[in-house]
Amino acid sequence: MTKAFIFDLDGVIVDTAKFHFLAWKNLAESLEISFSEEENEQLKGVSRINSLQKILKWGEKSISEGKFNSLMAQKNEEYLSFVDRMSEKDILPGVLETLTYLKENNYPIALGSASKNARRILTKVGLTSYFDHIVDGNEVSKAKPDPEVFLKGCELLEVEPEQAIVFEDSQAGIKAANTANMISVGIGDKAVLREADFNFEGFTEITEDTLKTLTNFKK
Ligand code: BG6
Ligand code: MG
Repeated sequence: MTKAFIFDLDGVIVDTAKFHFLAWKNLAESLEISFSEEENEQLKGVSRINSLQKILKWGEKSISEGKFNSLMAQKNEEYLSFVDRMSEKDILPGVLETLTYLKENNYPIALGSASKNARRILTKVGLTSYFDHIVDGNEVSKAKPDPEVFLKGCELLEVEPEQAIVFEDSQAGIKAANTANMISVGIGDKAVLREADFNFEGFTEITEDTLKTLTNFKK
């Protein structure tokens, strides 16, 4: 059975997870809400709007719609100030080698990201041309852990969900892939991503043999 690959962006291809963390932490602290790494873990893969709702809930704060929208804009502005300084050097180790191997071997590749800034980031790091299709936060109505973003990717790649191999660094993303019966590959802390079918610390651990194993795997 032919396989296709779907990559999450933040924390998988580029280390933007640290920029999201900094921007959310500054925003939470400006509202006198404490914000730890553990809380941040729960925001990975989660849309901007849902992330702010969660932070406000943790801090037991309720605010007007106008204030909510201005906080969303403020967070994104700070986040983009980091993003705009990015370049090829911000691609995580091993990612380029994996993308190159998959491209050379004609595997269909899509991006499946919750971010509305995905295209801007791919352009900054020069990776746009590796992707046959890009599905991002502008194109989905249901955020991860709903599998909509990955299912759209499969539709565009013209493969069944069982043929898709999904690289993800978030609990929400692994859940989304598993819900849709896709092959889930956790990138990062195995203890956090224990529901994934496969786990790797990063792409430097993923060799050509690993990719062959993934393409032969049946759930
Ligand atoms: C996900 C990140 O990829 O995108 C989340 O893991 C982020 O942390 C979400 O909130 C939305 O991103 P953006 O760029 O649209 O604010
Ligand atoms: Mg991610």
